[in-house]
Amino acid sequence: MPDDEVRFDRQSVAEQWDYAAEAYDEFQASGNDFYRLELFGPAHVAMCGEVRGLRVLDLGCGNGYFCRAMAHRGASVVGIDLSAKQIEYARRHEVVPPQGIEYVQLDAALVGEHLEPESFDLVTSCMALQDMPEPEAVILGAFQVLRGGGRLVASIAHPFSDLPHREWERKADGTKGALKLDRYFDRGPVEYAWPAARMLYAWRSVSIHVTLSDWFRWFLSAGFLLRGLEEPYPDEELVARRPEMEDCARLPYFLLLDFLKT
Ligand SMILES: C[S@@+](CC[C@H](N)C(=O)[O-])C[C@H]1O[C@@H](n2cnc3c(N)ncnc32)[C@H](O)[C@@H]1O
Repeated sequence: MPDDEVRFDRQSVAEQWDYAAEAYDEFQASGNDFYRLELFGPAHVAMCGEVRGLRVLDLGCGNGYFCRAMAHRGASVVGIDLSAKQIEYARRHEVVPPQGIEYVQLDAALVGEHLEPESFDLVTSCMALQDMPEPEAVILGAFQVLRGGGRLVASIAHPFSDLPHREWERKADGTKGALKLDRYFDRGPVEYAWPAARMLYAWRSVSIHVTLSDWFRWFLSAGFLLRGLEEPYPDEELVARRPEMEDCARLPYFLLLDFLKT
């Protein structure tokens, strides 16, 4: 169930992601973050299309994973994040090789107030909007800083499977049976435990669970038009190479959204 006792505000979120910064960075560097590295990351980059020469703003940039992907493809990139530590790690990556990425510590809900209106061609957000306490304000701000004809291309945790109540049934041999999902319409903050199994240390973060229609109401009422939607899942070859990813070949874990500002 969403937990009303769970804190989910600017300060608590900044503290959680500060604490997570080292483990999060190592998680990617080690290759253990394979859902990202082999699935939703490349799918998100592909959805952005040709970015050479574009001015890109990445919201909730973390250690700069998606900023680097955009800069590597010829975009001029600004990354913002609430967490000072995440920005610190992002800047460390900028040293070798420098890609000219500008990192700013800022609440994404404030981009409309702090950044020049209509000054970006593309706004991206990689698996971060659901981690922000005020996603509706973030989406409105993204609309304001985009030029006409610009796009917002975001990946989020799929609201159908990223539920307050979620548990894999286990078969006798320990493999995953069916995924038990419940409480889709219970909106609110949900605490998520990142286990130490695949990273340096365990930590917790809080995300907002809302329905698919909530997300679409926010994007459409900001003024965006839907241009594309994808639910990336691994093909047989990827599952054969990465058997751990068989779970997301059965149910959608990730949602990619492509919105246009006309
Ligand atoms: C799951 S991480 C994703 C980071 C990065 N986009 C990536 O793909 O690795 C979520 C990030 O969102 C950031 N975040 C949460 N709320 C934010 C807000 N209101 N403004 C800016 N960043 C925020 C967190 O600090 C964290 O770095």
